[in-house]
Amino acid sequence: MGLEQKRAGEAIVEVAFAVTGKGRALPAFSNLLLRGLLADRMGGALDAWTISHDGLGAPIALFEGRQAPVHVSLSRTEGAAAACLSTEAPVGIDIEALQPKTGDGELAGLFFSAGERQALSEQSPETMAASFFRIWTLKEAYIKARGLGFGIDLPSFSVVGPGVLPALDDPAQAGAPWSLSSLSLPSGHVIGLAVAAVSPRLSLRPVMPSAASV
Ligand SMILES: CC(C)(COP(=O)(O)OP(=O)(O)OC[C@H]1O[C@@H](n2cnc3c(N)ncnc32)[C@H](O)[C@@H]1OP(=O)(O)O)[C@@H](O)C(=O)NCCC(=O)NCCS
Repeated sequence: MGLEQKRAGEAIVEVAFAVTGKGRALPAFSNLLLRGLLADRMGGALDAWTISHDGLGAPIALFEGRQAPVHVSLSRTEGAAAACLSTEAPVGIDIEALQPKTGDGELAGLFFSAGERQALSEQSPETMAASFFRIWTLKEAYIKARGLGFGIDLPSFSVVGPGVLPALDDPAQAGAPWSLSSLSLPSGHVIGLAVAAVSPRLSLRPVMPSAASV
């Protein structure tokens, strides 16, 4: 097993991302990105790792056909893909290509909480798109980490401002530790990461895709 030495109780999250160029990254590529991370950080051959899904579509890592004790998440978008894993805590990841004209309020009105819409309204025209995609990717990452998909009402919880997670949507989750991280890539992509742990240690790995694997 390749995971680094960690402090007691600490969650380590391994994140891999790749900028693939034009076109939406293929499902096979994000799958390969995650399996590469699993083989490297958990051990075993790449071919021994496969990805299955639960009834709601959440990914499950299998080693030689058996569920492995590791939480995983993956995402793909126009020109990029990302994947992550942690043996200690549920994780969720989302990657999006920043589109400068987004953030006019229509999508925010449908999916964002009142606090998130307020935070967005305080942005200047220059920072609006980056702020929109930061919120969007963090919300997606959180619902993936919870594994419930659209079983969570998106406007019912906030990833910014007062009343930020722990989960406002579900009282049973109150007090649960959640950490949210946002990463902006020079390529213009934004990654949102949600981890059900306090102050997780993030290990970031940019991957150079070969033309054949994209
Ligand atoms: C399915 C969803 C979880 C992510 O979809 P997406 O952003 O279009 O696509 P991504 O590439 O980022 O993620 C796809 C991966 O999410 C994962 N996923 C799907 N359902 C999931 C669930 N219930 N829990 C956790 N992960 C899930 C899968 O791994 C899937 O890839 P795979 O099928 O190849 O394994 C869902 O959030 C969705 O359809 N969102 C649509 C966009 C939207 O309305 N967003 C509002 C944000 S404020």
